[in-house]
Amino acid sequence: MKIALYCLQAATAADARTLLESLPGASVSVATGDARALEQLAAGNPDVLLCEAAPGSHTVAALARVSASRPPLTPMLLSRAPTPELLIEAMRAGVREVLPLPLDRVTVAAALERLRVQAQTVPGRHGKVLAFIPCKGGSGATFLATNLAWTLAQAPDNARVLLVDLHLQFGDAALFLTSETPPSNLAQLVHNTDRLDAALLSSSLLWLTPRLGVLASADDLGAGLEIQPGQVEALLALARQEFDFVVLDLGRTLDPVTVKALDAADRIYPVLQATLPFVRDSRRLLDAFQSLGYPNERVSLIVNRASKHGDIRQQDIERSLGRDIAYSVPNNYPLVASSVNQGLPLAKLAPSSPVVQALGQIATDLKPQADKPASWWQRLRLGGRNETVAAKA
Ligand SMILES: Nc1ncnc2c1ncn2[C@@H]1O[C@H](COP(=O)(O)OP(=O)(O)OP(=O)(O)O)[C@@H](O)[C@H]1O
Ligand SMILES: [Mg+2]
Repeated sequence: MKIALYCLQAATAADARTLLESLPGASVSVATGDARALEQLAAGNPDVLLCEAAPGSHTVAALARVSASRPPLTPMLLSRAPTPELLIEAMRAGVREVLPLPLDRVTVAAALERLRVQAQTVPGRHGKVLAFIPCKGGSGATFLATNLAWTLAQAPDNARVLLVDLHLQFGDAALFLTSETPPSNLAQLVHNTDRLDAALLSSSLLWLTPRLGVLASADDLGAGLEIQPGQVEALLALARQEFDFVVLDLGRTLDPVTVKALDAADRIYPVLQATLPFVRDSRRLLDAFQSLGYPNERVSLIVNRASKHGDIRQQDIERSLGRDIAYSVPNNYPLVASSVNQGLPLAKLAPSSPVVQALGQIATDLKPQADKPASWWQRLRLGGRNETVAAKA
């Protein structure tokens, strides 16, 4: 990868150059000085331009000119103390990533890897929107949505996955996978609908891997309630172009934003448990889906925390709801609680647990090779052992 590095001072450039040259496959050219030096640097047709800017300097304007005249070039901003004004200016200049100075090897390598993955973006991509909704509070919808997003992004088919926390209040999806703080959130992003584009979306995400971005929920209760259905519609339309899978973690209230998200979903996964209150509320939710005109084929029921010893059997639920259960995910409270409490995907903690296998089955069914006898997930996790995945009901 051809990397161009522009710094305000020679000492900063020397340190950053040493780090960049230690990355495999990187060829680095460097400039310091005025805007002309930046333009000359870009004339060498690098793949990526790392450009240091200070708040209030003219560098960002020069960067905007340079990146507009050379579309394949990806600009990234380097800054010791990025102010909100500098960040907004940089976004307008088409900056996809902001890297803090002094550069950190892991952060830079991850940003460049994201860029490499981005370059593989299929033009006209039309990602699938998958909506998880609890039939009743605490059903496990967030656990399943977050861990399915992780599973889909681990597949060897290079799928790009976006997880969106669409709880307008008290969203906590990001915390199921990480303890890192998200750089932005849904409310802040959609507030800027008039300049919503791929660069702004990408920079608003917490990237857990080069293929998995998380858009956190609003961190302020009032801001969450100001989100409009049209803003969510615009966000999902953009997300489909940028990602292969867009996993939505929804709240249980059928408010206008949630309905807009459900309208956009290619598949809706209502999550219930095998107890009477859950079955009763599932009935109500399915009736609401019928009124909203969602065809049955778009809805895949998941029974979470399933156990062979429960009072209510799967057949009883199916008879009561008049629908087949698509998946049942086993109950394992200690393991799942440990994953949730540590903020780690369960697949990292217990890769061969039946809960992870059940998630693998859902993921496999969403991939084109689903009809193959042994799925990628089974081959990966079971190492070729002859075990059956009993997740699909
Ligand atoms: N398969 C499982 N086995 C055991 N425990 C589980 C399982 N799935 C989820 N849980 C537990 O249920 C708790 C609630 O899950 P989660 O927050 O995902 O539910 P939810 O449906 O999203 O709830 P809310 O209505 O608050 O959005 C989790 O913290 C976890 O401890
Ligand atoms: Mg939830």
